[in-house]
Amino acid sequence: LDNGLALTPTMGWLHWERFMCNVDCAGDPDNCISERLYMQMADVMVKEGWKDAGYQYVCIDDCWPAPQRDAQGRLQADPKRFPGGMKKLSDYVHSKGLKFGIYADVGKSTCAGYPGSLGFYETDAQTFADWGVDLLKFDGCFMDWTLLGEGYMNMSKALNKTGRSIVYSCEWPLYEWPFHQPNYTAIRETCNHWRNYADVYDSWSSVKSIVDWTASHQNIIIPAAGPGGWNDPDMVLSLIFTWPYPISMIVSACYFLQLVIGNFGLSHDQQESQMALWAIMAAPLFMSNDLRDICPRSKELLQNRHIIEINQDPLGKQGSCTAKGNSFHIWERPLSNNRQAVAVLNLQEIGGPRQFAINTIPGWRICNPKCEVIQILPRYKDLSVQTLQSQLVLSVNPSGTTLLTITPISKDHTRFPR
Ligand code: DGJ
Repeated sequence: LDNGLALTPTMGWLHWERFMCNVDCAGDPDNCISERLYMQMADVMVKEGWKDAGYQYVCIDDCWPAPQRDAQGRLQADPKRFPGGMKKLSDYVHSKGLKFGIYADVGKSTCAGYPGSLGFYETDAQTFADWGVDLLKFDGCFMDWTLLGEGYMNMSKALNKTGRSIVYSCEWPLYEWPFHQPNYTAIRETCNHWRNYADVYDSWSSVKSIVDWTASHQNIIIPAAGPGGWNDPDMVLSLIFTWPYPISMIVSACYFLQLVIGNFGLSHDQQESQMALWAIMAAPLFMSNDLRDICPRSKELLQNRHIIEINQDPLGKQGSCTAKGNSFHIWERPLSNNRQAVAVLNLQEIGGPRQFAINTIPGWRICNPKCEVIQILPRYKDLSVQTLQSQLVLSVNPSGTTLLTITPISKDHTRFPR
């Protein structure tokens, strides 16, 4: 969408995967969908370096509204859970130098059964603008699929009409795919990012299914991506392990938890794979986790400036899966200044780390004739100059990823500018 926004993929925090539709503020005050939750997240985002790392948007998902519109037909926040109202919450988020995101639905009601925007697009867009909203996630439940396009386009126009800069995050293609292939040209013209595929769950099989779907539809979806409009593979998550002990114990706990958490979340290697692939896919980076209680190792990964730099590369080209062999998948993303990012994903989930010798996959070469290679994941390492003949061997953990950046060296051996 050509509204001057989302020139690089949007970064922020979104409540859904971690907090879902928890409205039990009496029984679970710390985790229910209430103004307190977003105020606390905003506080932590500033204090703990998230804002400085680039995570800007604090976003509400489903289950915030009161069950009925007000007398003027406007959406209103649930008065018990948001006693100060949305304008006050938005002011609070802005006072921290952050941006404020909200959620609504193109159809009759939201997926969780709260009032939808059908018939109220202009009213709702104006309400959001009056509240100082900076991003709208617009869901697609309870809508006749033949009207999805019209609905999403009308809300886009309504947002534009308010005159406020509001990032428009759509789910249009996700709800259209079951019926036919969506029109990505129209989607790009209408939205700043769009969900294509099912919700991410807290499991490696879920992350893998998103990655597989993206690879098998890359020829259709990649051409639509670029500054102002991005394919959205959903939230980065499970990059958190909650641990009810003092911070001093958490560092060792991270290593310990890794061993036991495999059954209900992502291992650290899988978290690294998700981060690396979301960077290659030029994906919006919305974390869904509890930033108040996060394992330092996961925090370091989410704030890794080299990975974020790849995700935010100004060239704005989405990467793709370029080679497969021996249960390794290679993903590549062209970056500005002629550089590129390469992710080598080990999909074999049995055994230990496996060796990946570059220049051995038929038809895939790391560079031609010479390049400088930096390893970003699993740890930062200068792999120096490589050539067509190099025999560099990478060791990649099961369901882990080695992430590299490649800078070509021209024939006269001067480096391309960085
Ligand atoms: C479906 C969306 O895909 C999710 O991300 C989330 O917004 C839920 N709806 C909320 O009901």
